[in-house]
Parts: sequence; C-alpha cells; structure tokens
Amino acid sequence: MSEGLAAELSERLGAAFRRTDELFARIPDDRLLERPIALRHPFLFYLGHLPAFAWNQVGRGVLGAGHLDRALDVLFARGIDPSDGDDARASHRTSWPSIAEVRGYRDAARRAVLDRVPSVLERKGDLLCDNGRVVHLVLEHELMHQETLMYMLAACPEGSFGRAPAPRTRERYERRPAEPRRIPAGPATLGADWDEIPFGWDNEFGKTVIAVPAFTLDSLPVTNRDWLAFREAGGSSPRSWVEGRGGLSVRTVHGPLPFELLADAPVQVTGEEARAYCAFVGGRLPTEAELYRAAYACPDGSQRLYPWGDDPPAPRHGHFGFRGSLPAPVGLSPDGASAWGVEELLGNGWEWTATPFAPLPGFCAYARTYPGYSADFCGGAHDVVFGASWATDERLLRRSFRNWYRRSHPHAFTSFRVARGGAP
Ligand code: AVJ
Ligand code: FE
Repeated sequence: MSEGLAAELSERLGAAFRRTDELFARIPDDRLLERPIALRHPFLFYLGHLPAFAWNQVGRGVLGAGHLDRALDVLFARGIDPSDGDDARASHRTSWPSIAEVRGYRDAARRAVLDRVPSVLERKGDLLCDNGRVVHLVLEHELMHQETLMYMLAACPEGSFGRAPAPRTRERYERRPAEPRRIPAGPATLGADWDEIPFGWDNEFGKTVIAVPAFTLDSLPVTNRDWLAFREAGGSSPRSWVEGRGGLSVRTVHGPLPFELLADAPVQVTGEEARAYCAFVGGRLPTEAELYRAAYACPDGSQRLYPWGDDPPAPRHGHFGFRGSLPAPVGLSPDGASAWGVEELLGNGWEWTATPFAPLPGFCAYARTYPGYSADFCGGAHDVVFGASWATDERLLRRSFRNWYRRSHPHAFTSFRVARGGAP
C-alpha cells in the first residue's frame, strides 16, 4: 500500500521535474540573470529555489537529515514579495552562484528527495508524513512556480517562449457577449474538512459555510476588447498592454502579440485595475464566497466537485493544464459551465475577487516546516483570486484550493468578471 503510494508520488515528482526542465529549456542561459519583474529575483533563483524548497521540506525539515549544501539550501530557501521598489532594492542581490553550480545542486537535491520518499511514508505519527503530505506540498509548490516562470516570461520585453502558435480557433470563433446570471440567496462552502482530502494547504481548512445574498454574475470574464470601451471613456490601459509604433499589443510568453490576436481573451489586469473597470460599468468584483457559490453550489443545495460536475478535469471543461501557451478567446468551454450557467470559472485566467486573503475560521499553520505559506500574506495587501489560468496544473483545481496575489500585482495571469446586486 505504502509502496504503491511511494511509486505514485515519485512518478508525479519526476513528471513535475520534467516539465520544469522543459520550461527552463525555453530560457537561454544568457538570460537566466534577467529580472523581468523588479519585485522578484531573477530566473536563476527559481532554478535553485524549487530543489532547495524540496530538500528543505522533505530532507532537512521533516526527516531531520541536515543540509545538502548549507549555503545553497539557505540562499534559495525563499522568494521575495516586497511591497515596493525600496523593499525590492533591499532584497536585491547582485551575485549569484554559476548556472552550472545551481544545476548541480538541483540534480543532487532532486535525487536526495526522490530517495527519501519511502522514508517519509514509513514514518508514523507525523501528519506531514501521513498520506505523503510533505511530498504533495513539494509537488504543488513546483507546479505553482511553473506558473510563476510563465508570467515572468510574459513580463520580459521580448517574451522568450519561441514563436507563437497560430491561434487554432480563430476562423470559427463566434463571439458571445457575457450575460448576467442570477444566483439566488443560499450557502457557499469554502475549504475542506481535514479528512476530506489527502492533502491541502493550511489555508484550505476548515470547512466554512457562508450565507450569500442573491446577486448576479456575468457568465464570462471581461475581455481585452471589452476594455477598449473603458479606455475610450478615459480609463487607463492595463499594464499587460504595450502601445508602440506598430499599434497596440498584448504581453504574452511569446512577447507582445498584436491586439487582434488576443482581443477576445480575458484581459490581464491588477486587482486595482479590475475594480476601476467594474465601477465604470456600474458593477463590482464578486466576493470569494460568491464565486464559490457560483462555481460549486447547485439549486438543490448540493455541491459539485467541479463547476461542471464530478468528472475529473478534461480539455473540454476549460483552458488549464499548460495546453497551449496563451489565454484563449472566452466562451470556448461551455461544457465547463456551473449549475447556474456561469462559464470559464476554472481556467483561462485567475479571477480577482473583492475579498482580502485571510484564513478560514479554525485556521492552523499545520505545516511546521512551512508555517508562513499563508500566514505571511494575510496583512490585507493581497486579494483572493479564484480559478486557474492556462499555466495552472490540473492538480491544483481542487475545490478547496485558494490562491491570492498582491492587489497591485500586474504580471500574474489574472483577469476578472463583473458582479452586480447582492450585499458583499
Ligand atoms: C500562492 C501562488 C501566490 O506564487 O507566490 C510559492 C505560491 N509560495 N512559493 C506564489 C508560493 C511560495 C504563491 N501563490
Ligand atoms: Fe516558492
């Protein structure tokens, strides 16, 4: 039984490492020291951070196996999330180990972690070892940073992901406007019970039922094209747009692409930009509870595992899981609609909410090796984002999963939809 789990977790770790390598292979060595996002470390940091985190959690943290490489374990332990340029300068480093040294460390740390999976599963009486929780934690951390790498690439003036694919659906695409969906008053269920899922991050516990007044929610997210009307009325352009001599373009991992190619895709904005647009159209951002209700609740009071039902995520349900490398035109996943006819809740961009990120009642930073995962971000500057983007692995689509970004963060794959009425 534990051998089966060891094999499964090792296999999944290996697959995650392979995808990390494929993504890094798109970034030429001579660009690894680039720092496309001033408030983040360079790409090279992430080459070391993923394996360092894995070893620091599994080897050093849970198994007490000591350092693999004292200097690198510490150097690569944690990323940064400074609030402004001054903070960023304070955490700026000018010298990094060589690429070869970091790759050597990565390979050693991965091997050491894979070797320890059976020891993790053999340990009794440690909740970080039960179900292999610490391995899940490492896995999901790796998957989340694959998305970080993608939005760092999109922040580069030139992108870096090779030539953009020809958008497949354009010729047949029929634009459908967002329609308001009425969602009657009723409960939203956030979070999970401890025993309900084999692994969840600290912020997913415990299960919380919130009474949500009736409200309406747009069936689809706001697109780049929608935003043009706001701009013509005096609104600012989102920072994901580039205005140059060649006209308007939109930042992507392939570099800025002509506006028309992405006109019908969700507009990538900060939480602040999203709020300004909502005010312009006489609406507001939905709350976290409203989106949970819109996604998972059913008129008969039951709850679905996914917006579309209980079937595991498949391509027809939404645009997630690294299929392609661009956001898709909205409305292409009607099979993913929720019980209320709200489409595209999972995939094609995380959606801003009006809810500051905060713990659920009963919160406990249970991972003693990583107590700050959520707690460090509950200061009020970060808002909950709901859903997933094209660069979010399917494994992160569980109902209780919660994500957040700093409200002013312009680089992540975050979009939004408009809510009206209700009492947020
Ligand atoms: C939860 C996705 C916002 O990417 O900053 C990775 C995840 N935390 N390493 C992030 C995370 C530490 C985090 N998000
Ligand atoms: Fe990290």
